[in-house]
Amino acid sequence: MTTLLTVDNLRVRYPTRTGVIEAVRGVSFTLGRERLGIVGESGSGKSQTGRAIMGLTPPHALVSADTLNFSGIDLLSISAKQRRSLRGKRIAMVLQDPKYSLDPVMTIGKQITETLRTHETISKGEARDRALAMLEAVQIRDPGRVYDLHPHEVSGGMGQRVMIAMMLIAGPELLIADEPTSALDVTVQLDVLKIMDKLVSERGMGLIFVSHDLRLVSSFCDRVLVMYAGKVVEELKASELTNAQHPYTRGLLNCMPVIGESRHPLPVLDRKPEWAA
Ligand SMILES: Nc1ncnc2c1ncn2[C@@H]1O[C@H](COP(=O)(O)OP(=O)(O)OP(=O)(O)O)[C@@H](O)[C@H]1O
Ligand SMILES: [Mg+2]
Repeated sequence: MTTLLTVDNLRVRYPTRTGVIEAVRGVSFTLGRERLGIVGESGSGKSQTGRAIMGLTPPHALVSADTLNFSGIDLLSISAKQRRSLRGKRIAMVLQDPKYSLDPVMTIGKQITETLRTHETISKGEARDRALAMLEAVQIRDPGRVYDLHPHEVSGGMGQRVMIAMMLIAGPELLIADEPTSALDVTVQLDVLKIMDKLVSERGMGLIFVSHDLRLVSSFCDRVLVMYAGKVVEELKASELTNAQHPYTRGLLNCMPVIGESRHPLPVLDRKPEWAA
């Protein structure tokens, strides 16, 4: 399989008055044209890993890696301008909080068509048609109406789908989807997953799918990275997730609810300091 992305020893650090916070501590993986899941508890560095690949960490963040290569391009040595031209067009990221990621004073239609028109020379009318088709593809029932709304006028789930439409419209080669379906109900969630799945199989897109939902990841992805305290503690085939060896992964699996089974007391994760070492 051709490699789309190589990440070797990625680190993200934040200097603060009381010392350096290490958000990502030496993450390595490769991605082909496949679906890679990243799971791990809150604060384990999943979003920071995605943002570092996108080049969307705040200016005071210290990002380093032995290799950060996308399709032959060394992401750490190109200019900010070159990086911007990759973003949205060839690499896209669906951010965790659509409410903060959409521009509050711009209509949804304008935001989606702007993505397109930044990267392609197409007419206004054509951009509008493609935006409407994309909104329909992410199961927005009344695309014509939603097109003219502002972000605060749509629900959280709709906002998330708008973000997804915006990210997919330019046909990226790599999509980083950070909890893309967490605000959606189960049926819409499946529709959105199907859209992403189609892009992977038909257009050969590479997908990094960040989620808390182990069951969803194991059924939807090809491979899974398990993160803990800024590190990858285990890498598995998604179908083999239930055979995970690492005690942290085993703990996560053990905490999954089982329908029809009553659990008293509820299991809790016990964390060992040596897992973070
Ligand atoms: N701007 C920042 N300054 C300092 N520390 C930060 C900053 N942004 C993130 N961090 C820290 O980086 C660590 C990893 O955060 P990250 O958002 O990647 O977690 P996550 O795995 O995505 O969690 P969640 O599942 O809750 O989304 C956290 O400890 C967080 O406090
Ligand atoms: Mg996150």
